Amino acid sequence: MLKQLLAAVALVASSAALAASGHVVHLDKAPIDLTDKESLQRGARMYQNYCLGCHQMEYQRYSRTFRDLGIPDEVGMEQLAFTAKKVGDHIKNAAPKTDLARWFGAAPPDLSNVARVRGPDWLYTYLRSFYVDPSRPFGVNNEVFPLVGMPHVLQELQGVPSKQHETRLVDGESKEVYVGIVTDGTGELSTEEYDRAVADLVNYLEYTGEPSKLESRSLGIKVMIFLLIFFVLAFLLKKEYWKDVH
Ligand code: HEC
Repeated sequence: MLKQLLAAVALVASSAALAASGHVVHLDKAPIDLTDKESLQRGARMYQNYCLGCHQMEYQRYSRTFRDLGIPDEVGMEQLAFTAKKVGDHIKNAAPKTDLARWFGAAPPDLSNVARVRGPDWLYTYLRSFYVDPSRPFGVNNEVFPLVGMPHVLQELQGVPSKQHETRLVDGESKEVYVGIVTDGTGELSTEEYDRAVADLVNYLEYTGEPSKLESRSLGIKVMIFLLIFFVLAFLLKKEYWKDVH
């Protein structure tokens, strides 16, 4: 009994120590807005162009995506579904999984549910935290996901990013502190535009994580309106019934 107790205490202590020594990065708040259909559409386009080559969305069908995002089937099939044959197909790529794992040292996971696993703030920060690191196979590392196997696939948009440090006073000592990423300005987008594009992409990933959220929200609003009208009617009815009773 005592042995078990001690083992439990040791376990808790070691995991606390691990958490304390862990890599802690401040996460930026992702400006998520699931009611912004245009943002979701831009995000879907980015996903198809920059992510699907490696990451599938096995739990998401084109038909559902088009319907939820307000894209006509013909337009979607022509402009977004490059590899699909039918509108009912799942969002998949043709890349052989084992090869991908060999090339990148880790298999690119399915991203249908990634926003539920990692959270939108993590994703938003992750996609804006790649930086040049010549010691890595693809020449980049990531502040949020150290030693990540994924190359910086959005570099043509962002430009070449590097880590920025500032000398700050920490506990009475002056230390070099990581303050963020700066780019060399060679990207197609400005920093604000890049942040906006990543926000659209994360917005889309947040949607695919729980597609019924869009529906339940609009249904919720309808239910509230119905209840409000019902309340007014019930109130008038009550007044009518009780008007002669004093
Ligand atoms: C060239 C292939 C490739 C492309 C394209 C790519 N990724 Fe990745 N991605 C990877 C690999 C490989 C990993 C696994 C990294 C690891 O575990 O070290 C990964 C990991 C991730 C992860 C972390 C998943 C987790 O929870 O561990 C996220 C999120 C992610 N990618 C998002 C994206 C997004 C968004 C795009 C499109 C902008 C994208 N990726 C494009 C190869 C790719």
